[in-house]
Amino acid sequence: MKLQNKVALITGASSGMGRAQAKRFAKEGADIIAFDVNKDGLQELEDHFDSLDSNFLGLEVDISDAQQVESAVEKALERFKSIDIISNTAGILDDFSSLEDTDEELWDSVFNVNIKGIYLVTKAVLPTMLKNKKGTIVNIASIAGFVAGGGGAAYTSTKHAVVGLTKQLAYDYGQKGIKVNAIAPGYINTSMTEDVDPSLTDDLPEPRPGEAEEIADLAVFLASEQSDYIRGETIKIDGGWTTD
Ligand SMILES: NC(=O)c1ccc[n+]([C@@H]2O[C@H](COP(=O)([O-])OP(=O)(O)OC[C@H]3O[C@@H](n4cnc5c(N)ncnc54)[C@H](O)[C@@H]3O)[C@@H](O)[C@H]2O)c1
Repeated sequence: MKLQNKVALITGASSGMGRAQAKRFAKEGADIIAFDVNKDGLQELEDHFDSLDSNFLGLEVDISDAQQVESAVEKALERFKSIDIISNTAGILDDFSSLEDTDEELWDSVFNVNIKGIYLVTKAVLPTMLKNKKGTIVNIASIAGFVAGGGGAAYTSTKHAVVGLTKQLAYDYGQKGIKVNAIAPGYINTSMTEDVDPSLTDDLPEPRPGEAEEIADLAVFLASEQSDYIRGETIKIDGGWTTD
């Protein structure tokens, strides 16, 4: 098992890639802390883990709210004593809105979840990782972190920011024992893409949408010691979408 004796905090764990990672990380031996705004999804996950007798703590948290994040991280540390892995997965789409169609409220909400949320969660957990002199952070970016068209103006801007923050965190904290990388998925079958036409993938080298479990497999690799020489990278997993 690749994550034995590790405690993993996963945001956006109620659905899609976050849920797939929670299940996959637990199979690899990790205890799971799940943050999400979706209470029902957290309950479903808790029922799943209860039936497996796995260590699980689900907390209803809006990751864009500093106070909620701080108090949830405190609760998590009371229960588990340490956090070894963060998977910053929670994110929202902007309905592919152009700048003209993006009002200030949409702009702020996408930035607050997709990038400020990563800042808040990481900042709240970092002191524990620095004290332990070890930790692994996996950020979920997007191909919209590299190219236009994977989202609208706000979404694409935030995902470029995730790629940049990943590099800076890897640079600042690598020698303090903290490994930071990111994943850039293409079109993945989750609730986020429910209304997006799957035929968009017809011309890809791998002509199909990806599955959340495929992202979870890559996240396990990045969270494990097998990837220790990879630093500050954002790895594309997109069926060849961005192949030039
Ligand atoms: N699905 C895709 O094709 C695709 C492609 C590239 C990148 N991504 C990224 O992957 C990540 C996961 O998305 P997904 O496809 O699994 O979508 P999803 O909608 O299935 O899951 C996102 C989860 O984040 C949670 N969430 C939203 N706002 C939150 C907040 N403020 N606080 C806490 N939790 C919150 C939602 O409740 C949901 O459970 C996102 O960052 C998304 O931008 C998705």
